[in-house]
Amino acid sequence: MTAPRPATDHPIPIRPIDQPTRLEALEAAVRAHSSLVPRIGIILGSGLGGLADELEDALAIPFADLPGWPEATAPGHVGRLLLGRLAGTPVVALQGRFHLYEGNDSGLVVQPVLLFARLGARTVFLTNAAGGLDPSFGPGTLMVIRDHINLTGLNPLRGPNADAIGPRFPDLTEAWSARLRARLHAAGAEEGVELAEGVYVGLLGPNYETPAEVRMLAQLGGHAVGMSTVLECIAARWAGLEVVGVSLVTNAGAGYSGQPLTHEEVLAAGAEAGPRLARVIRRFVTDLP
Ligand code: HPA
Repeated sequence: MTAPRPATDHPIPIRPIDQPTRLEALEAAVRAHSSLVPRIGIILGSGLGGLADELEDALAIPFADLPGWPEATAPGHVGRLLLGRLAGTPVVALQGRFHLYEGNDSGLVVQPVLLFARLGARTVFLTNAAGGLDPSFGPGTLMVIRDHINLTGLNPLRGPNADAIGPRFPDLTEAWSARLRARLHAAGAEEGVELAEGVYVGLLGPNYETPAEVRMLAQLGGHAVGMSTVLECIAARWAGLEVVGVSLVTNAGAGYSGQPLTHEEVLAAGAEAGPRLARVIRRFVTDLP
Protein backbone atom coordinates (compact mmCIF):
# COMPACT_ATOMS: atom_id res chain seq x y z
CA MET A 1 0.00 0.00 0.00
CA THR A 2 1.35 3.41 -0.94
CA ALA A 3 0.21 6.39 1.10
CA PRO A 4 -1.01 9.35 -0.98
CA ARG A 5 1.56 12.01 -1.82
CA PRO A 6 0.60 15.25 -0.09
CA ALA A 7 0.58 18.35 -2.27
CA THR A 8 2.64 20.70 -0.16
CA ASP A 9 0.33 23.66 -0.77
CA HIS A 10 -2.60 21.65 0.62
CA PRO A 11 -0.95 19.56 3.29
CA ILE A 12 -2.81 16.53 4.55
CA PRO A 13 -3.11 16.87 8.33
CA ILE A 14 -1.23 14.01 9.97
CA ARG A 15 -2.38 13.49 13.56
CA PRO A 16 -0.32 11.59 16.12
CA ILE A 17 -2.79 8.71 15.87
CA ASP A 18 -2.17 8.52 12.11
CA GLN A 19 1.59 8.11 12.52
CA PRO A 20 1.87 4.37 13.33
CA THR A 21 0.26 3.28 10.03
CA ARG A 22 2.34 5.73 8.05
CA LEU A 23 5.52 4.74 9.85
CA GLU A 24 4.79 1.10 9.17
CA ALA A 25 4.68 1.83 5.43
CA LEU A 26 7.85 3.93 5.64
CA GLU A 27 9.66 1.25 7.61
CA ALA A 28 8.68 -1.38 5.03
CA ALA A 29 9.96 0.85 2.20
CA VAL A 30 13.30 1.29 3.99
CA ARG A 31 13.58 -2.38 4.89
CA ALA A 32 13.12 -3.31 1.22
CA HIS A 33 16.53 -1.67 0.69
CA SER A 34 18.47 -2.10 3.94
CA SER A 35 18.52 -4.14 7.14
CA LEU A 36 20.85 -1.73 8.95
CA VAL A 37 19.73 -0.92 12.50
CA PRO A 38 20.91 2.63 13.22
CA ARG A 39 22.25 3.63 16.63
CA ILE A 40 21.60 7.29 15.89
CA GLY A 41 19.64 9.39 13.40
CA ILE A 42 21.09 12.62 12.09
CA ILE A 43 19.25 15.48 10.40
CA LEU A 44 21.60 17.39 8.14
CA GLY A 45 20.46 20.99 7.88
CA SER A 46 21.33 23.72 5.36
CA GLY A 47 24.89 23.44 4.13
CA LEU A 48 25.60 20.32 6.22
CA GLY A 49 24.86 17.78 3.54
CA GLY A 50 28.59 17.13 3.07
CA LEU A 51 28.61 14.67 5.95
CA ALA A 52 26.56 12.38 3.72
CA ASP A 53 29.67 11.75 1.59
CA GLU A 54 31.47 10.41 4.65
CA LEU A 55 29.06 7.53 5.26
CA GLU A 56 30.56 4.12 4.57
CA ASP A 57 28.55 1.45 2.74
CA ALA A 58 25.88 4.10 2.31
CA LEU A 59 22.52 3.42 0.79
CA ALA A 60 20.53 6.47 -0.36
CA ILE A 61 16.76 6.45 -0.74
CA PRO A 62 15.28 9.52 -2.50
CA PHE A 63 12.30 11.06 -0.67
CA ALA A 64 10.21 10.29 -3.78
CA ASP A 65 10.61 6.55 -3.04
CA LEU A 66 9.28 6.89 0.52
CA PRO A 67 5.48 6.69 0.86
CA GLY A 68 3.89 10.02 1.70
CA TRP A 69 7.10 12.03 1.45
CA PRO A 70 7.15 14.96 -0.97
CA GLU A 71 10.39 16.09 -2.56
CA ALA A 72 12.40 18.53 -0.44
CA THR A 73 11.95 21.96 -1.98
CA ALA A 74 14.17 24.27 0.06
CA PRO A 75 17.29 25.44 -1.81
CA GLY A 76 20.38 23.76 -0.34
CA HIS A 77 18.40 20.64 0.62
CA VAL A 78 18.81 17.48 -1.43
CA GLY A 79 16.07 15.18 -0.15
CA ARG A 80 17.43 11.70 0.56
CA LEU A 81 17.36 9.23 3.43
CA LEU A 82 20.74 7.60 3.96
CA LEU A 83 21.71 4.47 5.85
CA GLY A 84 25.33 3.61 6.47
CA ARG A 85 28.18 3.76 8.94
CA LEU A 86 29.92 6.84 10.25
CA ALA A 87 33.21 6.07 12.00
CA GLY A 88 31.91 2.52 12.40
CA THR A 89 28.63 3.50 14.05
CA PRO A 90 25.44 2.58 12.18
CA VAL A 91 23.53 5.75 11.34
CA VAL A 92 20.47 6.89 9.47
CA ALA A 93 20.67 10.42 8.12
CA LEU A 94 18.27 12.79 6.48
CA GLN A 95 19.87 14.94 3.80
CA GLY A 96 17.39 17.79 3.69
CA ARG A 97 14.27 18.04 5.83
CA PHE A 98 10.62 19.05 5.71
CA HIS A 99 9.97 22.63 6.78
CA LEU A 100 6.73 24.21 7.90
CA TYR A 101 7.36 27.19 5.64
CA GLU A 102 7.22 24.90 2.60
CA GLY A 103 3.59 24.30 3.51
CA ASN A 104 4.20 20.92 5.13
CA ASP A 105 1.99 19.67 7.93
CA SER A 106 3.69 19.50 11.32
CA GLY A 107 3.01 15.74 11.33
CA LEU A 108 5.10 15.35 8.19
CA VAL A 109 7.85 17.61 9.52
CA VAL A 110 8.44 15.16 12.39
CA GLN A 111 8.04 11.90 10.47
CA PRO A 112 11.78 11.52 9.81
CA VAL A 113 12.66 11.47 13.51
CA LEU A 114 9.76 9.11 14.24
CA LEU A 115 11.06 6.87 11.45
CA PHE A 116 14.54 6.99 13.00
CA ALA A 117 13.04 5.65 16.23
CA ARG A 118 11.08 3.01 14.35
CA LEU A 119 14.26 1.81 12.61
CA GLY A 120 15.90 1.32 16.01
CA ALA A 121 17.77 4.58 16.66
CA ARG A 122 17.92 5.66 20.29
CA THR A 123 19.36 9.13 19.72
CA VAL A 124 18.70 11.92 17.25
CA PHE A 125 21.23 14.57 16.28
CA LEU A 126 19.51 17.70 14.94
CA THR A 127 21.41 20.35 13.02
CA ASN A 128 20.28 23.60 11.48
CA ALA A 129 21.37 26.94 10.12
CA ALA A 130 20.40 29.85 12.35
CA GLY A 131 20.74 33.57 12.87
CA GLY A 132 22.65 34.80 15.92
CA LEU A 133 20.59 36.50 18.63
CA ASP A 134 23.50 36.63 21.06
CA PRO A 135 25.56 39.56 19.72
CA SER A 136 28.75 37.59 20.35
CA PHE A 137 27.64 34.81 17.96
CA GLY A 138 29.04 35.83 14.57
CA PRO A 139 28.83 33.88 11.28
CA GLY A 140 30.47 30.48 11.66
CA THR A 141 29.65 30.05 15.36
CA LEU A 142 28.68 26.47 16.23
CA MET A 143 26.13 26.51 19.07
CA VAL A 144 25.31 23.38 21.03
CA ILE A 145 21.56 23.57 21.66
CA ARG A 146 20.88 23.63 25.41
CA ASP A 147 17.15 24.21 25.16
CA HIS A 148 14.60 25.62 22.76
CA ILE A 149 11.61 27.95 22.57
CA ASN A 150 8.87 26.82 20.19
CA LEU A 151 7.37 29.94 18.64
CA THR A 152 6.03 28.25 15.51
CA GLY A 153 2.52 28.31 16.97
CA LEU A 154 2.23 24.65 15.96
CA ASN A 155 2.59 21.29 17.63
CA PRO A 156 3.06 17.90 15.95
CA LEU A 157 1.34 16.18 18.89
CA ARG A 158 -1.98 18.03 18.48
CA GLY A 159 -4.90 15.66 18.03
CA PRO A 160 -5.66 12.14 19.24
CA ASN A 161 -2.54 10.58 20.72
CA ALA A 162 -0.81 7.41 19.57
CA ASP A 163 -0.11 5.82 22.95
CA ALA A 164 1.98 3.14 21.22
CA ILE A 165 4.55 5.82 20.33
CA GLY A 166 4.51 8.10 23.36
CA PRO A 167 2.52 9.72 26.15
CA ARG A 168 -0.14 12.38 25.79
CA PHE A 169 1.83 14.91 27.84
CA PRO A 170 5.55 14.46 27.19
CA ASP A 171 7.95 15.98 29.70
CA LEU A 172 10.42 18.46 28.16
CA THR A 173 12.35 19.34 31.33
CA GLU A 174 15.47 17.98 29.68
CA ALA A 175 14.42 18.10 26.05
CA TRP A 176 18.07 18.47 25.06
CA SER A 177 20.14 15.83 26.84
CA ALA A 178 22.69 17.21 29.33
CA ARG A 179 24.62 13.95 29.09
CA LEU A 180 24.93 14.18 25.31
CA ARG A 181 25.74 17.89 25.43
CA ALA A 182 28.71 17.02 27.62
CA ARG A 183 29.76 14.37 25.11
CA LEU A 184 29.45 16.92 22.32
CA HIS A 185 31.65 19.44 24.11
CA ALA A 186 34.22 16.69 24.68
CA ALA A 187 34.12 15.85 20.96
CA GLY A 188 34.63 19.53 20.10
CA ALA A 189 37.62 19.77 22.45
CA GLU A 190 39.17 16.63 20.97
CA GLU A 191 38.77 18.03 17.46
CA GLY A 192 39.96 21.51 18.42
CA VAL A 193 36.63 22.96 17.29
CA GLU A 194 35.19 25.72 19.44
CA LEU A 195 31.59 25.18 20.50
CA ALA A 196 29.30 27.78 22.05
CA GLU A 197 26.06 26.81 23.79
CA GLY A 198 22.64 28.39 23.93
CA VAL A 199 18.88 28.40 23.43
CA TYR A 200 17.42 27.95 19.95
CA VAL A 201 14.21 29.78 19.04
CA GLY A 202 12.13 28.12 16.32
CA LEU A 203 9.83 30.27 14.17
CA LEU A 204 7.61 29.40 11.23
CA GLY A 205 9.45 31.51 8.60
CA PRO A 206 10.04 31.84 5.71
CA ASN A 207 10.93 35.50 6.14
CA TYR A 208 13.92 36.38 8.24
CA GLU A 209 13.03 38.30 11.39
CA THR A 210 12.62 42.03 11.75
CA PRO A 211 15.23 43.80 13.89
CA ALA A 212 12.53 44.35 16.56
CA GLU A 213 11.78 40.61 16.58
CA VAL A 214 15.49 39.82 16.92
CA ARG A 215 15.74 42.16 19.94
CA MET A 216 12.61 40.60 21.46
CA LEU A 217 13.83 37.02 20.96
CA ALA A 218 17.18 37.88 22.55
CA GLN A 219 15.33 39.39 25.53
CA LEU A 220 13.21 36.24 25.80
CA GLY A 221 16.37 34.24 26.37
CA GLY A 222 17.21 33.04 22.84
CA HIS A 223 20.74 32.82 21.49
CA ALA A 224 19.98 31.68 17.93
CA VAL A 225 16.87 31.73 15.73
CA GLY A 226 15.79 29.56 12.86
CA MET A 227 12.89 27.89 11.03
CA SER A 228 13.19 24.25 11.98
CA THR A 229 14.24 21.75 14.68
CA VAL A 230 11.83 22.51 17.56
CA LEU A 231 8.99 20.29 16.33
CA GLU A 232 11.46 17.49 15.55
CA CYS A 233 12.80 17.70 19.11
CA ILE A 234 9.28 17.57 20.58
CA ALA A 235 8.33 14.50 18.54
CA ALA A 236 11.64 12.78 19.26
CA ARG A 237 11.17 13.21 23.01
CA TRP A 238 7.59 11.95 22.66
CA ALA A 239 8.95 8.83 20.96
CA GLY A 240 11.57 8.34 23.69
CA LEU A 241 14.65 9.40 21.75
CA GLU A 242 17.51 11.25 23.37
CA VAL A 243 18.09 14.56 21.58
CA VAL A 244 21.27 16.49 20.90
CA GLY A 245 21.98 19.18 18.34
CA VAL A 246 23.98 22.06 17.00
CA SER A 247 22.97 25.32 15.35
CA LEU A 248 25.35 26.60 12.74
CA VAL A 249 25.09 30.38 13.06
CA THR A 250 25.31 31.65 9.49
CA ASN A 251 24.62 35.32 10.14
CA ALA A 252 24.10 37.87 12.88
CA GLY A 253 20.40 38.38 13.59
CA ALA A 254 18.57 40.90 11.41
CA GLY A 255 19.44 44.48 12.26
CA TYR A 256 22.73 43.75 14.02
CA SER A 257 24.96 44.35 11.01
CA GLY A 258 22.93 47.07 9.29
CA GLN A 259 23.00 44.93 6.13
CA PRO A 260 20.08 42.95 4.66
CA LEU A 261 20.18 39.13 5.06
CA THR A 262 20.37 36.88 2.04
CA HIS A 263 19.89 33.15 1.58
CA GLU A 264 23.20 33.14 -0.33
CA GLU A 265 25.19 34.30 2.72
CA VAL A 266 23.41 31.66 4.82
CA LEU A 267 24.47 28.94 2.35
CA ALA A 268 28.02 30.33 2.09
CA ALA A 269 28.52 30.38 5.87
CA GLY A 270 27.03 26.88 6.05
CA ALA A 271 29.52 25.68 3.46
CA GLU A 272 32.39 27.26 5.41
CA ALA A 273 31.48 25.92 8.85
CA GLY A 274 29.85 22.66 7.73
CA PRO A 275 33.11 20.67 7.56
CA ARG A 276 34.02 21.77 11.12
CA LEU A 277 30.66 20.57 12.39
CA ALA A 278 31.04 17.35 10.40
CA ARG A 279 34.30 16.63 12.26
CA VAL A 280 32.58 17.13 15.62
CA ILE A 281 29.68 14.87 14.65
CA ARG A 282 32.02 12.14 13.43
CA ARG A 283 33.92 12.27 16.73
CA PHE A 284 30.64 12.36 18.69
CA VAL A 285 29.35 9.15 17.11
CA THR A 286 32.68 7.31 17.35
CA ASP A 287 32.22 4.47 19.87
CA LEU A 288 28.85 5.89 20.90
CA PRO A 289 27.68 3.39 23.53
N1 HPA B 1 16.75 33.78 10.95
C1 HPA B 1 16.03 32.65 10.80
N2 HPA B 1 16.51 31.56 10.21
C2 HPA B 1 17.77 31.60 9.77
C3 HPA B 1 18.57 32.74 9.90
C4 HPA B 1 18.04 33.89 10.52
O1 HPA B 1 18.68 34.94 10.67
N3 HPA B 1 19.78 32.43 9.35
C5 HPA B 1 19.69 31.15 8.92
N4 HPA B 1 18.49 30.64 9.17
